[in-house]
Amino acid sequence: MPDLYAVIGNPVSHSKSPLIHSAFAQQTQQSMQYTALLAPIGGFKMTVENFRQQGGKGLNVTVPFKLEAFQLSTRLTERATIAQAVNTLKFDDDEILGDNTDGAGLVCDIELNLSIPIAAKRILLLGAGGAARGVILPLLQKHPALLAVANRTISKAKMLQEQFMMYGNIAAGDFSQFSKEKFDIIINATSASLHNELPGIGPGAFKHAELAYDMMYNLDAYTPFLKFAQQHGARQLADGIGMLVEQAAESFFVWRHVKPQTKPVIAMLKSANKI
Ligand code: ATR
Repeated sequence: MPDLYAVIGNPVSHSKSPLIHSAFAQQTQQSMQYTALLAPIGGFKMTVENFRQQGGKGLNVTVPFKLEAFQLSTRLTERATIAQAVNTLKFDDDEILGDNTDGAGLVCDIELNLSIPIAAKRILLLGAGGAARGVILPLLQKHPALLAVANRTISKAKMLQEQFMMYGNIAAGDFSQFSKEKFDIIINATSASLHNELPGIGPGAFKHAELAYDMMYNLDAYTPFLKFAQQHGARQLADGIGMLVEQAAESFFVWRHVKPQTKPVIAMLKSANKI
């Protein structure tokens, strides 16, 4: 019997994780089966328990269950504790290990796949929700000159600044405050692209940007954020596909202690992509 893994979410049918992990398993010759698991809202814990009873070894957790996964874990890695969210669960006897590989996935995609070092750069991070929180520590650990967090609701950005100021140079404000400053890397961690909307950052911020990165992806077209960034001078554009594959590789390593090759899997997903 192959070992059982799945991605759990609601909705989940659109998830690329089964495709990605099946490709990793084939490439590394691991005997495992990876499926998508739809949990009802309010039924996360029960769905996880059923999966464990069926012999499940681990789960990737996606929207809207990352906080519930954090609460369900009986042991947490440091990066999951700081992110206050879990995207990877590993089951060993009675233990439920909670980890968060999202931030490592983003950093790996920017530095290794896009070949842009983060050290000494000025970074603008848009958004202050769960997605933004999960990437702040891994970004600061790469020693940027500045990490500016801009959010529609300024109080949430300020809270993140207070929480993370001991780890590096972090600023907080609203979109207008940073719209005219110079940034090297601008990352969209808002959920605006999900609704086909643009976060309200002004065009001036993109003038000197070497990279505009949207943590969301849209397989049919550039997101509104990437289109805007391109129109206003960003030299390189990236969507969240590379991050998705890199965080998956990191989860795969947590479960199987084997690091798969990510480049062929990113290429496979991008070849199905129309842009
Ligand atoms: P996630 O886990 O995806 O981060 P979240 O915790 O609900 O989801 O946070 C969503 C983030 O996207 C927030 O920073 C939100 O801004 P507010 O804190 O002001 O609500 C941001 N966001 C969502 N839609 C947006 C839009 N149209 N323009 C700008 N920011 C938006």
